[in-house]
Amino acid sequence: MNDVLPEAIARWHRVERAFREISTRYGYTEVRTPIVEPTQLFVRSIGEATDIVEKEMYTFEDRGEGMLTLRPEGTAGAVRAFVEHAVSGREPISKWSYLGPMFRRERPQRGRYRQFWQAGLECFGDPGPHVDAEMIELVVTLLASLGVQDLEVLVNSLGSGDTRARYRDALTKYFEPNRDRLSPESQRRLVANPLRILDSKSPVDRELSAGAPSLLEFLDDADREHFDELQRALTALDVKFRVEPTLVRGLDYYSRTLFEVQGRGGELGAQNTICGGGRYDGLVKELGGPDVPSIGFAAGIERILLVMGGEDRAPTIDVAVAVADAALRVDASVLLRDLRAAGLVADGDLRGQSLKSQLRRADKLGAKVVLVLGPAETERGVVQLKDLAAHSSSEVPRAEVVARVRDRVRESA
Ligand code: HAM
Repeated sequence: MNDVLPEAIARWHRVERAFREISTRYGYTEVRTPIVEPTQLFVRSIGEATDIVEKEMYTFEDRGEGMLTLRPEGTAGAVRAFVEHAVSGREPISKWSYLGPMFRRERPQRGRYRQFWQAGLECFGDPGPHVDAEMIELVVTLLASLGVQDLEVLVNSLGSGDTRARYRDALTKYFEPNRDRLSPESQRRLVANPLRILDSKSPVDRELSAGAPSLLEFLDDADREHFDELQRALTALDVKFRVEPTLVRGLDYYSRTLFEVQGRGGELGAQNTICGGGRYDGLVKELGGPDVPSIGFAAGIERILLVMGGEDRAPTIDVAVAVADAALRVDASVLLRDLRAAGLVADGDLRGQSLKSQLRRADKLGAKVVLVLGPAETERGVVQLKDLAAHSSSEVPRAEVVARVRDRVRESA
């Protein structure tokens, strides 16, 4: 779990701003759900035989009132809120966004943390596939706007209804004769969740997976048409993508469209998935709501930060206030208040340091202007205005100083 110190926050803000801005443009509005939910919510939605539920959740007993879990992802909580507030009765389509910390007890490494931040979208009520394409295009546009290069968009379809069940049986049949060659983890998965074997990083598992039947052969006509139309829409939207039939993703709620955006540069190491998402047409109903087809995605903010371009300058202030005599610090406080009330970013070091040290600090903070209060000037009702960029200095009546600084700052903006 990481601290983000103030010197690193500008990059975070840049990602958050870009995400909020693009979500708004595409019609999404933010939802805020609790960071803890009943454990059963995650078990039911993410699935019992998934890595997240089996070994990664931070779960604790709520003093005799049941089990709670720190959210490992945002979809389950969003769907719970959607059902609990009967939102589908009020509008046919709901487009929700969220941004916040998630928790998974994974083995930490570059790009993988136990508390990490996700920016995600969930769209309820549209069966797609055009909204699926829109969402993928949104992600690609977002990442491009942040200077992320060298991306690959992978798409697949899991089918709907019993496609997955039929595919599961076929995979079990396929892997069964080679059971002993599979990694111990995959041998276990063969019983619990054979689709997950396709996700395995073990070389032998991968070799065996390469010859496995393709999920795409199991799609029925309606699934196929959905997937074909998705690809037509992506092409029309100029999104480059690759169909990856082994893409299954680690959560059980998915159906039909699945997608991931992966970084191809080396910055992310093994954790090269920047964003993942897909359709979960059965989940709202599964959690007690009506039949509402839905799709969503989430991107890992730390992973975006590892691959995004651009420099972020340290924040600077507009104006500093300094005093030539410590007795004038109350006057300085009042002047600072007035400057800030006028919308200026103003600061001053009122610890009683020498004027020289106050000026040095003003310079360090990037002040464009320094206002110096001195006893003689105060007596005459004026303030000394030092323009650091222009290397000039002048006296300004106290009553006019705020307006003068504001004009000066606007000019240089
Ligand atoms: P996910 O693939 O589990 O999907 O996570 C989405 C993204 O969160 C990943 O692509 C990755 O960037 C980031 N992420 C996941 N785990 C970690 C970690 N330990 N450290 C850093 N980053 C991480 C979901 O969570 C789904 N809820 C997405 C979704 C929304 N599907 C439908 N709607």
